[in-house]
Amino acid sequence: MSMRTKTKYLCQECGQQSARWLGRCPGCGTWNSLIEECVNPRKEVNPSSLGGDLPRPVTEVSVLEEERFSTELGEMDRVLGGGLVPGSLVLLGGDPGIGKSTLLLQASQLLSRKMQVLYVSGEESTRQIRLRADRLGELLPGLLLLSETDIDVMERHLRELAPPVAVIDSIQTMYKSDLGSAPGSVGQVRECAAQLMRLAKTEGISIFLVGHVTKEGVIAGPRVLEHMVDTVLYLEGDRHQFFRILRCVKNRFGSTNEIGIFEMSGSGLIEVTNPSALFLIHRSQGGVPGSAVAAALEGSRPLLVEIQALVSPAGYGTPRRMTAGVDYNRVALITAVLEKRVGLNLGSHDIYVNAVGGVKLDEPAIDLAIACALTSSFRDKPVDSEMALAGEIGLTGELRPVTGVEKRVKEAFKLGFKRFLLSGQSAADHTADTGILTADTLATALDLAIKV
Ligand code: TYD
Ligand code: MG
Repeated sequence: MSMRTKTKYLCQECGQQSARWLGRCPGCGTWNSLIEECVNPRKEVNPSSLGGDLPRPVTEVSVLEEERFSTELGEMDRVLGGGLVPGSLVLLGGDPGIGKSTLLLQASQLLSRKMQVLYVSGEESTRQIRLRADRLGELLPGLLLLSETDIDVMERHLRELAPPVAVIDSIQTMYKSDLGSAPGSVGQVRECAAQLMRLAKTEGISIFLVGHVTKEGVIAGPRVLEHMVDTVLYLEGDRHQFFRILRCVKNRFGSTNEIGIFEMSGSGLIEVTNPSALFLIHRSQGGVPGSAVAAALEGSRPLLVEIQALVSPAGYGTPRRMTAGVDYNRVALITAVLEKRVGLNLGSHDIYVNAVGGVKLDEPAIDLAIACALTSSFRDKPVDSEMALAGEIGLTGELRPVTGVEKRVKEAFKLGFKRFLLSGQSAADHTADTGILTADTLATALDLAIKV
C-alpha cells in the first residue's frame, strides 16, 4: 500500500524507530510501546506563525493579560481561568454519556449570539445535533454544524471559515487517512491532536476537543493528549445523579483549582451558583448515624458535602473497604489512626465511605468529617446534625489546621449550620465567634461532634 511509506512506528519509551509495527521494542524491550506516526508531520510548521516571534529582551515582553472572551457560561469561564484564550486548544474529557457534547453544544449556541462557531461531530449526524440543540436553547445561524471524521477535510473547512471558536466531538472519531491505524488508536489521536494544535495556533481559532475517557481513566493512551493541549478540563459526576462537575487539571493560561458545577436537566446543563445547598438537599434531618458534613474548599469556593460511612462487622475473610468520591488510601489512613489513637476496633469490620452527590473530594480538610462519619456509624450514634467540620488528621491523632477557614465557616453558617468544628490552630482569629468549636486531637473532636 502506498500509505505505508508515509508512516513509521516510534517507541514511546526510547524513541526507537521501526518501519513496521512490533509487539516489543527492539531498542529498550518494552512491550506495546510502538505508535504509528506520519513520517513528516511537522512540515508546515513555521515558528513565526506559532505565536512565537523573534527573541527579545525580557524587559520588553508585554505583561498585559492575554485577551480572553467569555464563553457565556459563567461556570465554564471560571474553570478556564476567566474565559477562553483565543487560539487555545482545550481538551474536555469525561466518561461517555456524562454530558460533554451537551455542555459544548450549549456553549456553542450561547457563543453564536456574538460570533461564528463551527461544531464538528464525528458521532452524530447534523440532524441529530439540530434536534438536540432545539432542546438546549436558541437556534442561530452563527452556529455551523458539520458531520465529519476526516481530519484533513475538517482542517480545510476550518481554514476557509476561520471561526473564532470550533468544537471537535470527539477526538476518538477523527482520523488521518495517511495513517494505517484505526480511529481512536493512540497514533491517530496524537496525530489529529497535533494537527489541531497547529491549526489553533496558526489561525487563532479556539478549539474545544472532546475526549472520551477509557476504562483505565485516561484519555486515549498514556495521557498523550494532556501533554499536547493548552488546557485540560474534565466533566465528572455520577451518571445516575444530576450534578456534573467541570474541573480543570491543566491550564497554561491560569490556575487549575477552580471547579464549575452544573445540574443535568431535561433541557441541558444548568449552572449551579449555590452548590452547597444542592449537595445537602437530600440530607436526612434529625441525624442518622454514619453521616457528617465536610466544609471543603474547591479552588476559591467553599463546598459543603455530606460524607456517609457504613461500618459493619465483616463475615469471613478480609474485611471489605470501599470508597466513592473520597480517596481510598486516605480512608485507610484515617481508619488506622482511629484504631490506634482512639481505640476503635475497626479491623474486623467492612468499611464503606461515600461523598454524597457524585462529587470527588481530594482535600485533606475532609479527614475530620470522614473520621466522624466512621466513628458515628461504628458507635451507632449520630454526629451533631447542625455541625460542619474541617480538619486534617495527622498520624499521631492530632487535628491539623486547614486553609481558608473564613470562607468555610461563612458558607456553613449561611446554610444554617449552628456549629463549626476545627483545629485550635486554624481557629486562632475565630475562637471568640459563637458556634466555633476547636479541638487539638481527633479524640477530643469526636467527643465534641458525637454526643454519647
Ligand atoms: P452527552 O452530552 O451526549 O454525553 P457525552 O457527549 O459526554 O457522551 O449526554 C448524554 C446524556 O445526557 C444522556 O444520557 C441524556 C442526558 N441529557 C439530559 O439529561 N438532558 C438533555 O437536555 C440532554 C441533551 C441530554
Ligand atoms: Mg457526545
